[in-house]
Amino acid sequence: MQLRHIYILFLSMLVFAFSQCNSSPEQDHITELTKSWEKAVPHQEIPEGLVSLKSKDCGVCHQDHYKEWLFSTHSHAWTDVQFQGEIAKETSPFMCINCHIPLQNQQEYIISGLYGGDIYKPVKKKNPNFDLELQQEGINCASCHVRHNAVIGPTGTDKAPHKTLKDAKHLSEELCISCHNAVDVVTPQLACSFESGDEWKVSGFPQKDSNCISCHMPVIERSIVPGYPKRKSHYHYFAGSGIPKVAGIETKMLIGIDIQPRIIYPSYKLQDSAKFALSIKNSFAGHRVPTGDPERFIIIAFETLSLDSAVLDRKEYRIGEHWEWHPVAKKVSDNNLDPGEERIYTYSYLNKNTDNKLLHIEVSKHRTTPEHIEYNKLPKDYPAQITIYDKYFPFKVE
Ligand code: HEC
Ligand code: HEC
Ligand code: HEC
Ligand code: HEC
Ligand code: HEC
Repeated sequence: MQLRHIYILFLSMLVFAFSQCNSSPEQDHITELTKSWEKAVPHQEIPEGLVSLKSKDCGVCHQDHYKEWLFSTHSHAWTDVQFQGEIAKETSPFMCINCHIPLQNQQEYIISGLYGGDIYKPVKKKNPNFDLELQQEGINCASCHVRHNAVIGPTGTDKAPHKTLKDAKHLSEELCISCHNAVDVVTPQLACSFESGDEWKVSGFPQKDSNCISCHMPVIERSIVPGYPKRKSHYHYFAGSGIPKVAGIETKMLIGIDIQPRIIYPSYKLQDSAKFALSIKNSFAGHRVPTGDPERFIIIAFETLSLDSAVLDRKEYRIGEHWEWHPVAKKVSDNNLDPGEERIYTYSYLNKNTDNKLLHIEVSKHRTTPEHIEYNKLPKDYPAQITIYDKYFPFKVE
């Protein structure tokens, strides 16, 4: 959601614009909220039989689901320091929170419209039912499971001590897509570009009955509450990129790309170029890689090292998007890997002496750049990348 790039460039301009604006918002005509992400999920009463909406309390009975969810980035969707840094800025519109803390119960204010259709002038009043602890949980159990003041489940079982409603359509990939697909130009410099849903629809995976849930919530037979008989269940890790949100706390990773060295010989001739090739194929993801947040990218780095590890040469390739934010938000380039797409990356090094050497290949996934981390004053240990391939190939020069 790449509103935040703009913040860098436009913060000062917008602050200036706000300071020039004298008209009182009450004089403006009120417009309705139209986009799905402009609205919170309506207030929910605690379903009959439960003591609260908190995941912590669901976890008293659904222990495995709770433990798994704690690993997921969903449980960090509010507390994430990057998210907090961004919504603290004046330029962040009110609707940022609707996919990160979707329930009205999690939100401090109730937003009912916009003065003059301006996203920076929401019509708001204090939410008397605001629950701070529920807010900290980000996308929690209730965010996905509680609607119509009941627990939505796949079977509507009568074994549960809580009110349960069957709604398989609600708990389908449409739920995921409601947050993981948003393409819109909010203001000229404010573009929203998450397309995992659209990418999946044209990937060929829907025809194979493979969707967000079958890949990201694999099936397991187990008791969903200790002591109850085994039944069909789903892991709740929501494994994805594997880049953690908090230093020291791991998240689960799905592997989307298959990485294979193609041309690597053990010896080369003096004054000849040593040539190498690496194949990268999006073999396992049901969408492009990277997907979602346009700031994400992959770096493929080739290095020639001396045997005592001095770097003699380096070449990098980048897979990702580039955006321009001024004067109008625009995608400039995009070489994300399509589902099934294979690309060969090559590297050559001219051997000018007969020292034996090492080829080092490293592939890393990044959520954002070091410059962005520094600009947002994020903690030095904020995990911004992980290495997914790291190999050394010795070669002789004769
Ligand atoms: C339509 C739903 C939606 C809205 C509205 C939304 N986000 Fe998000 N946000 C997401 C999703 C989905 C992800 C995860 C994307 C991914 O990992 O591919 C995300 C991830 C993020 C991240 C983490 C990025 C990362 O690479 O880990 C930040 C920070 C963030 N959003 C900030 C914001 C800000 C600031 C706003 C308002 C300007 C906003 N979001 C509005 C859906 C939304
Ligand atoms: C006091 C224990 C208890 C608590 C607390 C509890 N549940 Fe349950 N829940 C159960 C039992 C028992 C079942 C039925 C077990 C079975 O079918 O094997 C169940 C079933 C479910 C189902 C499956 C329904 C279906 O249609 O098959 C879902 C989903 C669910 N619970 C979600 C939640 C959520 C979300 C919370 C917190 C808001 C929660 N539960 C809190 C005990 C609990
Ligand atoms: C209420 C909005 C919402 C819903 C519904 C939702 N997500 Fe998310 N999802 C997010 C946000 C926001 C993030 C990023 C949180 C962050 O980075 O702090 C995210 C992160 C993820 C990630 C991890 C991305 C990474 O960094 O690796 C995966 C995988 C994921 N969601 C899959 C799903 C699936 C599958 C479903 C449907 C069962 C789903 N989501 C439903 C908003 C949502
Ligand atoms: C991002 C959305 C999302 C979140 C968050 C979420 N669930 Fe689920 N959950 C689902 C979906 C989707 C299914 C059903 C999958 C199906 O049957 O196809 C499901 C199924 C279940 C079931 C039925 C048995 C099973 O495993 O399939 C239980 C019980 C359950 N969830 C409990 C929880 C609890 C407890 C939490 C919080 C710790 C939680 N869920 C958080 C989306 C979510
Ligand atoms: C065929 C299996 C498959 C399907 C279908 C699928 N995904 Fe994924 N998804 C993956 C894999 C594998 C990855 C890890 C990609 C990688 O290597 O970084 C991933 C990564 C992600 C990420 C993390 C962002 C990133 O670039 O790593 C998000 C968010 C996500 N998927 C959301 C979704 C949503 C939403 C849907 C449904 C519209 C969906 N996925 C459908 C397999 C799948």
